[in-house]
Amino acid sequence: MGIKQVGVVGCGQMGAGITQVCAQAGYQVLVSEISDELLNKGLASIDSRLNRGVEKGRLSPQDKESIRNRIKGTTDTTDFAACDLVIEAAIENMDLKKKIFAELDKICPKHAILATNTSCLSIIGMAMATSRPDKVLGLHFMNPVPVMKLLEIVKTIATSGETLEIGQTFGKSLGKTIVIAQDTPGFIVNRLLIPYLLNAVRMLDAGVATKEDIDAGINLGLNHPMGPLTLADLIGNDTVLFIANALYDEFKEPQYAPPSLLRRMVTAGWLGRKTGKGFYEYNK
Ligand SMILES: NC(=O)c1ccc[n+]([C@@H]2O[C@H](COP(=O)([O-])OP(=O)(O)OC[C@H]3O[C@@H](n4cnc5c(N)ncnc54)[C@H](O)[C@@H]3O)[C@@H](O)[C@H]2O)c1
Repeated sequence: MGIKQVGVVGCGQMGAGITQVCAQAGYQVLVSEISDELLNKGLASIDSRLNRGVEKGRLSPQDKESIRNRIKGTTDTTDFAACDLVIEAAIENMDLKKKIFAELDKICPKHAILATNTSCLSIIGMAMATSRPDKVLGLHFMNPVPVMKLLEIVKTIATSGETLEIGQTFGKSLGKTIVIAQDTPGFIVNRLLIPYLLNAVRMLDAGVATKEDIDAGINLGLNHPMGPLTLADLIGNDTVLFIANALYDEFKEPQYAPPSLLRRMVTAGWLGRKTGKGFYEYNK
């Protein structure tokens, strides 16, 4: 089956990026949001990234126009009726995702593949809300989607070999390098990343070193682009806590148990860059 028309549910941080890379790869893309205001905000973020590409000489004005012309927005899910593949990138909430999958299952053609960009929720749980669990898989893009080279493809126990193959071909057509993981919380990247971030918080809480020195140790000692506490602030401390809880619920291993400092920071609203304060302070 060839994919021509791609649908994306949600035009937030990830949905907008996914929409952009699909249109850049030549697909027709329909992206949905819950209101015109949020749709326009998401589309404006794509426009500004494309404009930056033109300014920096990475993209010709004609290419920008044709990429933009391949993107259409909607607030009506029934418009997904012509999609061969729909990628769900709504907020990380299982009840909402199950509802979206059940709706898509009714609207989309029988051959359509339904994918989720979830970071840690059970993909088989979403698949079972449809009548086509064999055609459901995870396409877990990294943030920012247009920049990051990796795509984690997640297969559930019910994903068919054909669906996986189509997912791989599609991911490669976006220029991404693919790794394949089983449907367990955190997949490959977050299952390794989250305990590392939690250990940095534990280290800070235990007074082993200052936040600046913990970050500099990793930044300069291991040549990572940023240290763990800076990274946690960038991801969002609430998101780190959410994924840690999902990992702990599944595996019950102490390495995934969120430290109380992280919980207290989230309670205080110190979520990182997005709230102007996390481990560090940011100018809004
Ligand atoms: N942010 C990251 O770094 C990252 C990385 C990988 C995966 N993810 C996953 O991607 C998904 C989206 O995350 P995000 O950071 O883009 O969140 P976000 O809050 O920026 O965007 C989600 C968007 O979905 C919209 N939405 C909610 N319900 C909808 C519906 N029924 N129909 C259409 N749109 C709807 C919201 O209005 C919002 O704009 C989550 O599952 C998240 O776990 C996030």
